[in-house]
Amino acid sequence: MTFPSVIRIFEAINPKYDTMKRILSFVCVVLMTAFAWAEVTYDVLPLPRSIELNPKGGEYVLTEGAVVTYPASNAQMASNAQLLAKYLKEDAGFGLKVQPDVKKGAAITLCLGLKNDCPDAYLLKVDKKGITIQGATEEGIFRGLMTLRKAIGTEGGEKILLPFVTIQDEPRFAYRGVHFDTARHFFSVDFIKEFLDIMALHGCNQFHWHLTEDQGWRFEVKSMPELAQKGSVRKQTVIGRNAGIYDGQPYGGYYTQQECREIVAYAAKLFINVIPEIDLPGHMLGALHVYPELGCTGGPYEVWPIWGVSEDVLCAGNPKTLEFLKQVYGELCDVFPSKLIHIGGDESPRVRWKNCPKCQAKMKELGLTREAELQTYINKEMDKFLTAKGRTIIGWDETLEGGLSENGIVMSWRGMKGGIAAARQHHRVIMTPTDYCYIDYYQLKDDWAQPHGIGGYLPVSKVYSMEPVPAELSKEEGKFIMGAQVNLWTEYVGYPDHAMYMLLPRLDAISEVQWMQPEQKDFEAFKVRLARMEKLYDKLNYKYCHKIE
Ligand code: ACM
Ligand code: ZN
Repeated sequence: MTFPSVIRIFEAINPKYDTMKRILSFVCVVLMTAFAWAEVTYDVLPLPRSIELNPKGGEYVLTEGAVVTYPASNAQMASNAQLLAKYLKEDAGFGLKVQPDVKKGAAITLCLGLKNDCPDAYLLKVDKKGITIQGATEEGIFRGLMTLRKAIGTEGGEKILLPFVTIQDEPRFAYRGVHFDTARHFFSVDFIKEFLDIMALHGCNQFHWHLTEDQGWRFEVKSMPELAQKGSVRKQTVIGRNAGIYDGQPYGGYYTQQECREIVAYAAKLFINVIPEIDLPGHMLGALHVYPELGCTGGPYEVWPIWGVSEDVLCAGNPKTLEFLKQVYGELCDVFPSKLIHIGGDESPRVRWKNCPKCQAKMKELGLTREAELQTYINKEMDKFLTAKGRTIIGWDETLEGGLSENGIVMSWRGMKGGIAAARQHHRVIMTPTDYCYIDYYQLKDDWAQPHGIGGYLPVSKVYSMEPVPAELSKEEGKFIMGAQVNLWTEYVGYPDHAMYMLLPRLDAISEVQWMQPEQKDFEAFKVRLARMEKLYDKLNYKYCHKIE
């Protein structure tokens, strides 16, 4: 009920309304102001580890135009301060002044020096002197300012009343990933930046960027310009689920190295590492179309207009294959500073290798008895090459089948069993099982009532229930689980709004899995936090699934 309508009702029932009107106005203004202030809550999403409100109460009044300060000559801290000001302006229409090295009179102080081994750890304190965010590193400060941002939410006005509090926080897992397939469908640089913004809002720190596929090669390799120019374009795309009818429209797009660098720099400001994936030896029709001599049959091959797993893969017996891969990964490493490089390794049928004289000769030369070991041979070669560049390889769990190379990290997607086996062999593991993490699945039971998914059913409650460290592992083995990740494959997701819809709010759920201790999680309380987050999504025009199952 609005204030004027209260007055009208009051007028109708009370003839002496003038005096009463004044009193009522006063009471309503007080109540409405209190209501607006009550919107600041530290129960943000993901929920911080410890929130201690001052038992004696008290609030700090943050006034429009207040100063946020940081140590001068620290570019990352300057960026943090500017980002905080930008977020409060966009979310709440609330202006801050950014000024380095203000000793007295700053409302918000960003400072380093927190004693904690976790780079994401932060301490957020609100008392009568103001707001302080102290981090173990600049990254920790960034996580802390995101908590402040979400606590304030979308409430604008000239003043924001913040209850005195001490918040201590750090994430449960060091690896907090989100995967995005920009090969089945191509997404613009601007949208990838928005995708990164959404990740940062949820405290995610690893962007797994799937860049190449049977349906299109999307990374520019300067020494082989045709690879992206021709390999990125499929002549047409199948309609629906491989219905046998085609749209007749060429479809393409790729990222120049300059654009990739721009994305890496943008992500770095949000403390997100970009892990590029060039999937090998399967999912390679984009490349085989341009270089058919790298396939076992010699082609010709087309950039695939349909969905699925192609039997045509790189020939493991052709020495040119490794030369090609080293050239590609060499340029990839020049562009992406990430210590982690994803080499794919999933869904690579071995039927061509079985029938290929070159592959069989290679097996004989190496004394191998199974084709799976041929994949391990390629993995090991790539591992040596990338290790020499100071990088570490990640592979999908199929890479375990022929014996994983020593340093390799396993990304467990076909359930958790691959991850369990890998952890027992003391390999590091990232958990991303289809049952909990494949956000190309439908999130509602009635699949006809929502945008397309690939199939399956993965409601937000199921994502929320994920436990990335399986009970079968010993305490020591459990330490090899680096974290969890959701995967967004895009066979059936062609546009940004649709991608966001698949992401939200399942990203909210995984972010609490990534950040919170298992005993702290509570789905009912999560839904309350989510309702508040949705106000921010509305403000920022993010698309999301409104129904929770
Ligand atoms: C995968 O989903 N093919 C890793
Ligand atoms: Zn071959």
